[in-house]
Amino acid sequence: MAKIKVALAGVGNCCSALVQGIQYHSGGEATGLIHETLGGYSVSDIEFVAAFDIDRRKVGLDLAYAILSEPNKTPIITEIRSLGIQVQMGPIGDSLENSGEGLIDAASEEPVDVAAVLRASGADVLVNLISGSALDASRQYAVAALEAGCAFLNAAPSPVVNDGEMSKRFGEAGVPIAGDDLLDQIGATVTHIGLLEFLHSRGAKIDESYQLDVGGGAESVNTLWKTRGLKRDIKTAAVGASVPYDFPLVSGSTDYVDFLGNQRESFFWFKGSYFGGAPFAMDVKLNTVDAPNAGAILLDVVRGLKIASDKGLAGPVEPICAYGFKRPPERMGLAEAYGLFRSLVGD
Ligand SMILES: NC(=O)c1ccc[n+]([C@@H]2O[C@H](COP(=O)([O-])OP(=O)(O)OC[C@H]3O[C@@H](n4cnc5c(N)ncnc54)[C@H](O)[C@@H]3O)[C@@H](O)[C@H]2O)c1
Repeated sequence: MAKIKVALAGVGNCCSALVQGIQYHSGGEATGLIHETLGGYSVSDIEFVAAFDIDRRKVGLDLAYAILSEPNKTPIITEIRSLGIQVQMGPIGDSLENSGEGLIDAASEEPVDVAAVLRASGADVLVNLISGSALDASRQYAVAALEAGCAFLNAAPSPVVNDGEMSKRFGEAGVPIAGDDLLDQIGATVTHIGLLEFLHSRGAKIDESYQLDVGGGAESVNTLWKTRGLKRDIKTAAVGASVPYDFPLVSGSTDYVDFLGNQRESFFWFKGSYFGGAPFAMDVKLNTVDAPNAGAILLDVVRGLKIASDKGLAGPVEPICAYGFKRPPERMGLAEAYGLFRSLVGD
């Protein structure tokens, strides 16, 4: 198989988990992956060809060492070896004014021409992993991908696929795009959806439910101060679609606890009734490490986008958006989304 050439925007915690995870799983460790191979592409077929950040602690470093820089807190799971890819200065856009105070120490270099770097590197997919609060900067990376004819994966909650004009431009340019806001492997949103689907399928009537969480990563600060409303709307809409009637429901990030590091504590509450009107209540607590929760899904959607490109698909690729993201253009159940994704990748 050909290699999948990937460029990365945002060398933060998720990027660290992805870079380390590829090295870890390329050694033959399959546990923790959803798919070892997808459409013929194995994890080791993914190679990095460019990386962008704006923080002076990362710009200019080899990608392998930049992922270890502050304020990243992703655990180290593999031996770190040079990748030969230097992190380049990206466009700052609205990243500084919209990030939690002191989180980004801006580098002084001039930004590179991202589209030109993408073209020169032959990147197949640009993965957007920049801070979720930087809405304009995410759009700038999407435009650069469009200009370079490179597929775009929007893991951030910023509306890119959900910006109708942007999606239309990708469609017209013959370039595939997927987003918005990655749906984690066993994160709070997908677990909430899964539990609600289960209760509904067993005939239970749900009267109320919430999911609230606390985390210690930089993105938790951003969410708390800048994107709390956006994140809460996306998560609540994603979860609400799993049951075909309305009930009081809240799903959203709540707070930042610095000593949690990259850990996330998620709390779930369900109340309702079942046979004969008998009441039930359920409390669940989930403890995860945040960044690795993105890894397996990123590996799947990167390979999915390459397969979509190989098939000549353009614009938002519905099976990938529905399977891998909290805010796809069209919502559907987990099983239906997974089935569509499998049909696309053709395994
Ligand atoms: N499991 C997960 O962690 C998860 C799940 C779903 C979505 N996401 C989204 O993925 C993105 C990355 O999450 P994270 O935890 O790695 O965040 P992070 O804060 O650890 O990393 C963000 C990185 O982006 C960089 N950055 C900010 N503006 C930039 C710009 N204009 N150009 C280039 N780099 C820029 C920052 O310097 C930092 O290195 C966020 O948008 C988050 O909402 C993450």
